[in-house]
Amino acid sequence: MRAALLAWYDREGRTLPWRVRPEDRAEGARPDPYAIWLSEVMLQQTTIPHGTPYWHKFLALYPTVEDLASAPLDDVLTHWAGLGYYARARNLHKCAKAVVARGGWPETKAELQTLPGIGDYTSSTIAAICFAEPTTIVDGNVERVISRVHRVEEALPKAKKTLKSLAAVLSDPDRPGDYGQAVMDLGATICSPKSPSCLICPWAKWCAARAAGDQTRYPIKTPKKKQPIRYANAFVAVKDHTVWLQRRPEEGLLGGMMEVPNSAWVAEAEDMAPPVPADWHAAGDVRHLFTHIDLRLRVYRAEVTRDLRGEGRWVSVDALDEEALPSLMRKVLKAAGL
Ligand code: ADE
Repeated sequence: MRAALLAWYDREGRTLPWRVRPEDRAEGARPDPYAIWLSEVMLQQTTIPHGTPYWHKFLALYPTVEDLASAPLDDVLTHWAGLGYYARARNLHKCAKAVVARGGWPETKAELQTLPGIGDYTSSTIAAICFAEPTTIVDGNVERVISRVHRVEEALPKAKKTLKSLAAVLSDPDRPGDYGQAVMDLGATICSPKSPSCLICPWAKWCAARAAGDQTRYPIKTPKKKQPIRYANAFVAVKDHTVWLQRRPEEGLLGGMMEVPNSAWVAEAEDMAPPVPADWHAAGDVRHLFTHIDLRLRVYRAEVTRDLRGEGRWVSVDALDEEALPSLMRKVLKAAGL
């Protein structure tokens, strides 16, 4: 199975900008842990098409881990905006500082895991790809592939342990990085969730689900509870082609990001007091799904003539791109016509 997969990967594996292909490695090219780490952290929360431009942008702005470590956190958050999960961007920055402080990247999974924001998946991936440590790499794609090969009846997330030990048996001790990436590629390109291309799959003849004809039954999942709905009002205050923005507290959801004033998030829709008396008009509604909350914001807009209460500042409508605004707030500003 290993040989068949690696032969397939050598022929058909995806060309990704951070990936050093086996034929290039023969010439002595080694994957740069910084570039690999960036790609893996970004791709944990988004798809390759959405994440790739961010990877290029970060490497252009911060070519080395030292550059990233010495950048102001606010700039990093601004450039991260759109990738979501801002705690990751903070950890990214913290991790870069930690790597610089210790004088470079550690070269084992165990040591990599001591760095901020680096967990089991990321440490396994960097150790395998950059340092040839025979770790077991498991992401959602790998779980799907393995659950089909073995027709695992246990449901996710409980089945994670079982799937990991089944995946570990197959890992290749000689080419762990290629092997791990090959299984991920297989899951991403051939063993797709809804219509797997079994006719061209290098593992077809070993796949129990393929033999039984019930490939799409796997992985079996425990149904997720829907996120609770929360309602709130957002207030877009405009003055002379500028908007009032304030910073969220460092701790908690969207910590340290910029926002327009908004009310408490509550279980029943209600009208909340605006932050300053003005001629407020409802401009539209925004819905945003966080992992744990389904947020519905009613957006109000008004022309105002004086500063709002609390700390904040007027930001030119033309300079909004340079602010650390989460996707939610970009939607709010758009709903308000900005
Ligand atoms: N998804 C995230 N990282 C990946 C990698 N290194 N190879 C294939 N798919 C991936």
